[in-house]
Amino acid sequence: MTRPNNNTVQALQWTGNTLKVLDQRQLPEAIVYNAYSDAAGVTEAIATMRVRGAPAIGIAAAYGVVLSVIKHHAEAPAHWRQKVAADIEMLATSRPTAVNLFWALEQMKAVLNQPQANPLEAILACAEKIHADDIAANYKMGELGAELLAGAKGVMTHCNTGALATGGYGTALGVIRSAYRRQPIKVYAGETRPWLQGARLTVWELAQDSIPVTLIADSAAAWLMKSGAIDWVIVGADRIAANGDTANKIGTYSLAVLAKQHGIKFMVVAPTTTIDWEIKNGGQVEIEQRHQNELLPACYLKEGSLVSAWNPVFDVTPVELIAALVTERGVVLKPDVQGIRGLKDVI
Ligand code: MRU
Repeated sequence: MTRPNNNTVQALQWTGNTLKVLDQRQLPEAIVYNAYSDAAGVTEAIATMRVRGAPAIGIAAAYGVVLSVIKHHAEAPAHWRQKVAADIEMLATSRPTAVNLFWALEQMKAVLNQPQANPLEAILACAEKIHADDIAANYKMGELGAELLAGAKGVMTHCNTGALATGGYGTALGVIRSAYRRQPIKVYAGETRPWLQGARLTVWELAQDSIPVTLIADSAAAWLMKSGAIDWVIVGADRIAANGDTANKIGTYSLAVLAKQHGIKFMVVAPTTTIDWEIKNGGQVEIEQRHQNELLPACYLKEGSLVSAWNPVFDVTPVELIAALVTERGVVLKPDVQGIRGLKDVI
């Protein structure tokens, strides 16, 4: 497959001895990279959402393990292995919902558990492969998803699922990029309260790529759908259960319900690294609750305040609301346990 000539922004850059992370909290006002040289720094960068988005979190964590090995591997083997194992545990606490984090750490552990002539070289190769495979998966999904969109005039997306959220190009946003290259479509992005991934990141990314986009308040989605402007809602995923239930940014479930009401198709785009084969359904996904200060005005944060906030940052869309699951291993239409299990055997 030929890759589109695309210079999308890079959320993560490996320099050889540090991981440079684009601080997404400062976008779109400022482009600031911070360099991290240990796993503690990377853990903090993930927890504070300097880097966010399921695949990007997994890739960052993988490089965090590399940094740990760089830091400790000159010590006696028993010592450095213990320290790296502790760093892996720490990285795993950075955020709970995106399964890509745990998947990437398992890949790194598997390499460390094999006898290696040069553990540092092997662990770096694994992180770079996770990174490169994610980009390749996104290009593949872009093409597969764009085929489904043939003839579509308008699409709506939620959160940020682009280069900023992945190794590059994006999942749902990759599909929108690929579809737009084939034939311009009208793109609507929800602002994605409360953290505003849509308003601050998605519209910025698309504009960087010369793709026109219209921002809407999340609460305008139903009215927009009723207008007839939307053929597909296209979103990414943080964790997909074995039956296809999909955890993604809070508000995704509302969009899926609204899409059903308006006869609009709903597409989930995610690499198979986002499938959690261990859980039967979405009820088993841990939903991250973030601090109420992301939602509440400062005046309500004082002790004794009668106003509090409930801030779950993901929700679960039941599989029956999903028309298509697009992965790098193929498309599953009307996904269910069997259709999803079929992806396991595809090489
Ligand atoms: O809290 P965030 O910004 O990390 O949440 C990101 C999302 O929910 C994305 O939709 C998901 O990770 C898919 S990104 C390709």
